[in-house]
Amino acid sequence: MTVTGHRWNSAADYDVLARRVQFRNAELVAGLHPRPTEPRTVYEIGCGTGALTEALVHRLPSARIDAVDVSDDMLAVAARKDWPDRVRFTQGAFPDVTTDRRYDAVFSNAALHWMHPRFAEVFTTMNALLVDGGLACVATAGRTAATDRFAEQSQAALSRLTGLSEPDPFEARRLTVAGAEELAGAAGFAVQDAFLLERTVSVPAEVRARWWVASGGPWTAAQVPVQDAVDALCSVLGEGEVELVHASVFLRLRKEEHA
Ligand SMILES: C[S@@+](CC[C@H](N)C(=O)[O-])C[C@H]1O[C@@H](n2cnc3c(N)ncnc32)[C@H](O)[C@@H]1O
Repeated sequence: MTVTGHRWNSAADYDVLARRVQFRNAELVAGLHPRPTEPRTVYEIGCGTGALTEALVHRLPSARIDAVDVSDDMLAVAARKDWPDRVRFTQGAFPDVTTDRRYDAVFSNAALHWMHPRFAEVFTTMNALLVDGGLACVATAGRTAATDRFAEQSQAALSRLTGLSEPDPFEARRLTVAGAEELAGAAGFAVQDAFLLERTVSVPAEVRARWWVASGGPWTAAQVPVQDAVDALCSVLGEGEVELVHASVFLRLRKEEHA
């Protein structure tokens, strides 16, 4: 198994590791909608193996959910699970996927950061997908002092692995609350809620390293075998338990109604 271009080859690893962190994040994103019985049509961006989709199925009893993801690998893992008829998965790259449909709500967990540097277009397209007054409820990678510290460690591992001296490409994808609010306002949203949540879990160093690879890691660098990437990060993390810091910016945005 290798980390190659724009694919998510660690989909099975991701699905297992995601249970530690991402499923709880997904519950929080699903809970951002204040009136869960209202949405009839929902669009989900970057559904992956279905963590948020699952939370939406339980929380939004009346919603038809159109979920899109760019990765066949992630969608294949999602497809092996049981879903009600009101869920439909489609392969496609946001914001390039087009549809004439308008939705009552748009949701996304841990996916928008992969669309960097096209953030302005991503927020504008989310806005265009919504009916007037519709809500976008999303979480995307956040930046804190702890994520900066981890970036230093992963940069050391990354340059050892690839011979490249550029910083971990993931770091440019992180948003602060102020940065996210600015993007939202420029795209025609009223910000109803915006906050950053940093959570810390203690895990064995190898689990931390596997999470790094499964959730992106050096995937945009040269082709690197997964175990080499894990070993390289472990060599800078040390042995035993380490902190897995997960920082996300959460947003609830309302599409402004036309006069
Ligand atoms: C960290 S995973 C999150 C998956 C899921 N939302 C969850 O909560 O576990 C990020 C997902 O975004 C997808 N992704 C990345 N870029 C994308 C794009 N341009 N359009 C759609 N999906 C994308 C990846 O394939 C991956 O499945």
